[in-house]
Amino acid sequence: MNEIATDAVPEFPILRTCPFSVPDTYRKLDEVGGRVHQIRMSDGRLAWLITKNEDARAVLSDARFSSEKLRPGFPELSPGGLKALTYFSPFLVNMDGPEHSQARRAVLSEFSVRRINAMKPRIQRIVDTAIDRLLAQPERPVDFVAHLANPVPTLVLETFLGVPADDLDTIERNTEKMLREARTEEEQRAAAEGLHAHLDAVIAAKEENPADDFLSRQIERSRRERGGAADRFELASLVQLLQIAGHASSAAMISLSVLTLLSDPEQLKELAADPDRTPAAVEELLRFLSITDTGPLRMALEDVEIGGVRIRAGDGVIIPTLPANRDADAFPDPDRFDIRRTPDTRHVAFGYGAHQCLGQNLVRAELQILLDRLFSRVPDLRLAVDPGALPFKYFGQFFGPSELPVTW
Ligand code: HEM
Repeated sequence: MNEIATDAVPEFPILRTCPFSVPDTYRKLDEVGGRVHQIRMSDGRLAWLITKNEDARAVLSDARFSSEKLRPGFPELSPGGLKALTYFSPFLVNMDGPEHSQARRAVLSEFSVRRINAMKPRIQRIVDTAIDRLLAQPERPVDFVAHLANPVPTLVLETFLGVPADDLDTIERNTEKMLREARTEEEQRAAAEGLHAHLDAVIAAKEENPADDFLSRQIERSRRERGGAADRFELASLVQLLQIAGHASSAAMISLSVLTLLSDPEQLKELAADPDRTPAAVEELLRFLSITDTGPLRMALEDVEIGGVRIRAGDGVIIPTLPANRDADAFPDPDRFDIRRTPDTRHVAFGYGAHQCLGQNLVRAELQILLDRLFSRVPDLRLAVDPGALPFKYFGQFFGPSELPVTW
């Protein structure tokens, strides 16, 4: 790591206080000048912070930056956090190079536009049933997070993965225990063992009753590759990864998108009058909200120059998506939410390069269907509280409201 003046270095993570605004620390770093900044991680070590869109895409598409989080020296968000990874087989997000490409190829067709398009009628039924339930609530206001933003992605994942919604909820709760509630290594190991025992039962049940779904096809693939019984440990790691990557992210994105539109009646009216605008509006919501604040994270394998700074082999690099998607050099008037903006593939809400989000087609379909159905079926939907009074939190690395009281 290069020499620095230590007292001026901000600490990471840099968290949001307002759902729509880039934290002041990023603006102050911009004012200080320079494109790539040093930050201090929770264990006291220094790492590099990437805030420019062009630099973010350069790092994320450069194989000299590793995603293998168990490499000694990989930047750590919270002390001991990476230990939990040792209880699972490394899958996708924690792999590099040919090993990563092979693992990605094994699941890629599951996320294709064709497969996701085929799922759309089922996603619409899930959304409509959830809206029916919302409308049937005997009292108002109703919490949109509890009634729509949380259950819809669980039910979509249930359909996609072929894992019952109750099991997905249990996996999420047990992952939370392992990652955030365990205070000692023993507690963390016990939580991981509980998680594996449950995942093992989920996979065994699917082996007994295969269907036309992701997990059944992955069990079949694993059997074919091994010429015998499926590798349940690998499959458990895959299901757990998709649950943690896919649920909290989609739930946060749904509630923040609805909050953004309810807070902007003019643009909501325009969107409701012309649903053909929804795909572009969803792309703008993804850019504007950029809910992944604490990553992606990488470690340099060689010395690399980015944005005029020499990053040394072994240095940690953090590429939060919000500043990169609010970079004025990439997006004119970047802090303005504008559903008329021409969609720009440079946004990095889903990352970029080899690890770009596999679930992005699924999320786009889910958001488009949900916004169309919600605002056409409940045209009077509105916030029931002052937006300034809403509680927000981080669901893992994703930022969103923990409650969103609405009425109509
Ligand atoms: C709004 C919702 C979502 C956001 C903002 C999001 C964001 C991201 C980002 C930024 C990455 C890149 C990580 C990196 O470069 O290290 C990523 C990767 C990934 N996402 Fe998502 N994601 C979302 C939803 C989903 C869903 C629904 C699924 C699956 C059902 C999913 C599965 C994955 C997987 C498997 C990867 C790793 C890909 C790889 O390493 O090759 N994501 N996501």
